[in-house]
Formats: sequence, C-alpha cells, structure tokens
Amino acid sequence: MRVAVVGSNGQLGSDLVQAFADNGDLVCPLTHADIDIGSYQSVRTALENENVCAVVNTAAMHHVENCEQDPAAAYSVNAIGARNLALATRDLGASLIHISTDYVFDGKKAAPYREEDPALPLNVYGNSKLAGEYYVRTTNAQHFVIRTSALYGTHPCRAKGGRNFVELMLELARTRGQVRVVNDEFISPTPTRVLAQQIVRLSTSDRFGLYHATSEGSCSWYEFAREIFDVAGVKVRLEVAVASDFSMKTPRPRYSVLENGRLKEFGLNLFPSWQDGLRQYLIQSELLTAANARA
Ligand SMILES: NC(=O)c1ccc[n+]([C@@H]2O[C@H](COP(=O)([O-])OP(=O)(O)OC[C@H]3O[C@@H](n4cnc5c(N)ncnc54)[C@H](OP(=O)(O)O)[C@@H]3O)[C@@H](O)[C@H]2O)c1
Repeated sequence: MRVAVVGSNGQLGSDLVQAFADNGDLVCPLTHADIDIGSYQSVRTALENENVCAVVNTAAMHHVENCEQDPAAAYSVNAIGARNLALATRDLGASLIHISTDYVFDGKKAAPYREEDPALPLNVYGNSKLAGEYYVRTTNAQHFVIRTSALYGTHPCRAKGGRNFVELMLELARTRGQVRVVNDEFISPTPTRVLAQQIVRLSTSDRFGLYHATSEGSCSWYEFAREIFDVAGVKVRLEVAVASDFSMKTPRPRYSVLENGRLKEFGLNLFPSWQDGLRQYLIQSELLTAANARA
C-alpha cells in the first residue's frame, strides 16, 4: 500500500511513518513544509502526483490555550484542513484516516465514552476538532475518524513543545525532588507507538467509520505520575493537587476516558493496559534503570 502521512515529523506522525514502513508499505511523509492543509490548493498539489491509496492526517492546531485565543486559526487547520483533505482524498479515490480527540466530550459522563455517545465540547479546540470530524464523515465515505487521548511518544509533540508528560515528571523529580499533580482529571495515557500500530492494522480493513483508540483502563494524572515513578524506580515527594489549584483559563473535560468499543467489536483492538504501555515505553526509551527493567 502507498500511504501519505501528513504531519510526518510530529509526535504521532513520526511513529506512523515507522509503523507503515515496518508493515512493508510505501510511505510518503509530508511535513508542514510540504503541505498546508488549510489550503485546498496546497493539499491537492501535494497529493495529486503521489498516487496514494490512503492518507493519514495527524496535522492539527492542538495547543488548547492557543486555540481559545485564535478560533479562526484553530478552525482553519482542525475543521477546514480536515475538509480539504476529505475533498482531495475523495476525488483521488483514496481513504482518509483522520486523528481526533477525547476533547470532543464534556467529561460529565463519569464512565468511559463510547463512539455513539453525544459529543459536546467545552472549548474551541474540541469544537474545531468535532467540526473536522463531521467534514470527514460527510465528505469521504472511505474514512476512519480516530479519537485518542493523552499521547506520549519518543518524538516531541511539536504543538506543545519539548518534553512529554513522562519526561517532564522524571525531569521535575530529578531537578526538584517534589512534584504536585492533579488527581481529579482522568485520562487513558496512550503511547503513540501503539496507536501507530493500531492505525496500520485498521488501515488494512474496510470497516470505515468512527473509532475510539486509547490504552485500556484509565487513571488520574496523579496516578499516571505515581506509576511513572514506581516503574522507573525514582524517589520523589509526590503530592496531590486538584485542577482548581491551577488557574487554567480554558475549560477542559475532567473525565475524558474512551472505550475502544468498535475496535473490540471487530476484533481489531491492539491496546495493552495503560500501565503495560507505559512500561514498554520506558524500556524502549531507556528511561528504566537496569534493576527496574529486570523487576
Ligand atoms: N498530543 C496529545 O496528547 C493528543 C491527544 C488527543 C488527540 N491528539 C491529536 O493527535 C494528532 C497528532 O498529535 P501530535 O501530538 O502528534 O501533534 P504534533 O507533534 O504537534 O504534530 C502535528 C504535526 O502537524 C503539522 N501541522 C500543523 N499544522 C499544519 C498544517 N496547517 N498543515 C500541515 N501540517 C501541519 C505540524 O508541523 P509544524 O509543527 O511544523 O507546524 C506537526 O508536524 C492531532 O490531530 C491531535 O489533535 C493529540
């Protein structure tokens, strides 16, 4: 299969390029310098001579505060960008695999969200991503819309800059010896390496539609941090905080845990528990001490 990866130097895009190559597919990596999804002409020009049968879109404006401050820019990438890709792939006869987010939900359900649950975003980021989902779903019948949550991987998230949550926790432990983390926001931390393998698996099926795709199980950010320190064997004073301790301007869902309902229904779910995913990541990233890796 010949597949284009949009956002190929991003956190997820980098692992996708590797995962498709490992699967024996021919990958056409597209960075922001190669394609601007906000422009239909740019999308058409970048894709038309590549002869791909699938396009994966990881490109997004997903810094939540920046989206809130500049809704026009957020919609231009997250909604119109998705539409441009859906139109171009439809016209070129290719499928579109579009990455979306747990932030389409308001977090008031307090039980894992299924694909059929109504979306009700709390902020511009979630609204613009939901608009992008609808454009994809109504434009190109050959689509996979994949909602995921709390990504971390070996390549930096370009929109958020620098370290992922795991690296940040380990660095704070090393430099300060004390960390405060919120215990009233719940997520399913998801390694991009596993998500990339899941996307490759899904791309070989023709069961198009909307999917939730995250690690199994859930935790608060505090519980995630505690597991990071336990598995990495790092001694630190870890303190409980609540979201209201931090003056976040933009509302966020308190509970954005997703159930991989359709992946399981079709026997396609590859995700391990969030704890096993974390352990694999720490081993791959060589962040475990030799003693802890053996334990
Ligand atoms: N990170 C998370 O925790 C998380 C959670 C849930 C869902 N998601 C979703 O997962 C996807 C991937 O996230 P990620 O962490 O891999 O993001 P990332 O590291 O920020 O990568 C995004 C990529 O898209 C490119 N890009 C941005 N605007 C573009 C445009 N207008 N045209 C073409 N390319 C553009 C970026 O290039 P430049 O940097 O050069 O602009 C970058 O290569 C996004 O759709 C995001 O909404 C992320």
